Amino acid sequence: MLQSYLNDGYVIVENFIGSEEIRALKDSAARIIQEDKTAKTSIFSSVNQLQTTDDYFLGSGDTMRCFFEEAAYDENGQLIVPKEKAINKIGHALHECSPTFKFFSFQPKINSILKTLGFEKAKLLQSMYIFKQPQIGGEVLPHQDACYLHTSPQRVVGLWFALEDATLKNGCLHVLPGGHTSKLSAKFIRSDNGLEMKQLNEANWDPNKFIPVEVAAGTLVVLHDHLPHKSSPNLSNRSRQAYTLHVADGNTEFTELNWLRKRAPFPEYA
Ligand code: FE2
Repeated sequence: MLQSYLNDGYVIVENFIGSEEIRALKDSAARIIQEDKTAKTSIFSSVNQLQTTDDYFLGSGDTMRCFFEEAAYDENGQLIVPKEKAINKIGHALHECSPTFKFFSFQPKINSILKTLGFEKAKLLQSMYIFKQPQIGGEVLPHQDACYLHTSPQRVVGLWFALEDATLKNGCLHVLPGGHTSKLSAKFIRSDNGLEMKQLNEANWDPNKFIPVEVAAGTLVVLHDHLPHKSSPNLSNRSRQAYTLHVADGNTEFTELNWLRKRAPFPEYA
């Protein structure tokens, strides 16, 4: 496992979660949406990131907030689908605020994966529940996760749990095998001037070399923080739900550049 992580920048672990566990996570996510009382809606767009980032997003590090799909609205700003079909994602502290997600996120099986990768006393930075809704699930442009989460030294890993089958039709992940050895192309930072996407190096990732990661529900995909990855819009009739965690090595500092701010220290794996 460590070998393919180091060589390719990603690892696929099939059958990591069972169907009962998946059911519990999906039910909890549905309940979070039902109980969400936010009057204001906030859109999440990977394509128009700077324009759609607002205080609602910036304050989501300690809580569970729902972000809407851009395409869920008509030109008059009215939702064209029911709320539960309009949510792009829930973020960014399900692992602290929901007992079901907390239990799942800190299970020993995950810690042993982290230890295999050499992450000791790992810190859980953020969690997201991604819906990739039928027909309106938006595109995610090619990016490296290290663009969004900064540690010194840089050492973050993404854990992507498929809660439904992810296929070419419903917008599965695409990765650039071996691309984790490329330099960081950009940094999304919070500074005195607000938010900024700072370009660092040209992202000369050959679009033809990205490969689809079609996986069955229950699969874990481990992603190196420099691995370029993306996903297409979901134009199918089926959602492509996933739960993700981003974890930092315990021997790193979480820097001031991060958009993510928390009131309390990050929870750690034992
Ligand atoms: Fe990502």
